[in-house]
Amino acid sequence: MSSPGKAELIHVFKGILFTTRSSPELLKSLDNFDAREDDVLLVSYPKSGTHWLAGVITKLYSTQVTLTSPIEFGDISKLEELNKLPSKRIIPTHLDYNMLPPNFKNKKCKMIYISRNPKDTAVSMYHYYRDNPNLPTVDTWTAFFDLFLKGDVVCGSWFDHFLSWEEHKNDKNILFLFYEDMKKDLPKIVKDISVFLDVNISDNDIQDICKKSSFSEMKTNTEKENSDPNHTVCALTSNRKLIFRKGAVGDWKNHFTPKQNMRFEEIFNEKMKLSKM
Ligand code: A3P
Repeated sequence: MSSPGKAELIHVFKGILFTTRSSPELLKSLDNFDAREDDVLLVSYPKSGTHWLAGVITKLYSTQVTLTSPIEFGDISKLEELNKLPSKRIIPTHLDYNMLPPNFKNKKCKMIYISRNPKDTAVSMYHYYRDNPNLPTVDTWTAFFDLFLKGDVVCGSWFDHFLSWEEHKNDKNILFLFYEDMKKDLPKIVKDISVFLDVNISDNDIQDICKKSSFSEMKTNTEKENSDPNHTVCALTSNRKLIFRKGAVGDWKNHFTPKQNMRFEEIFNEKMKLSKM
């Protein structure tokens, strides 16, 4: 049996590439989503550390929390399914700010945006594309590099995504985090998250969460965890090895040629002229 072609795997909605696992009907209906004031949104461009952050956040609460699959993932029945879930819901999303259901904004739901060096994000995404049959085939790193810079990958341009959220980084209900900061000082970030979410935790709890959220622990334990696609951050694969790959900062240096690095920097500087970060 031949593997599915790009047309079967990908469609374009409002100029952004989505996998066909995000049905156009669902994407169209997102504007009607009924958010709850205590929903927490976990926002990221793919491959920025979403699973890591979800692991930390779900461990923070001693009360019942429900981690859902990304809001944009599924068919038209998704909104109804989310409606039936008990609070508190931790809802991941890769949507850019403009596509976010307005109800989350109106109700000032707490949102945590995690970002990562786009060079490492590109490399992580390349491996994910290469090893995931639910994404179009990419033949080489060079070919993927071009697609990434053009924003011709699922969830669109990294630059547009980041800029759409950065505009709101000073909103009181939004916390901006960086993958690299989590690598450098996870206890501090866990503390920051707990303050932002109004969760009281002790220093011992923080140590415990950090231990359980290390790359090796998460990689080992993930197989035992809930792999129901309705409650996983990445519903595009059940192969957890694709998600916990290397977990390192700076892997881009093993992939980028000096010429690619120069081109990336040029485009980065141009696109990020509007960025204040
Ligand atoms: P690499 O492919 O560079 O290894 P996402 O969850 O948004 O899909 O991001 C996946 C990336 O986060 C992968 O990067 C993965 O290894 C990394 N990651 C997942 N859990 C991690 C952890 N506990 N510590 C550090 N990195 C982690």
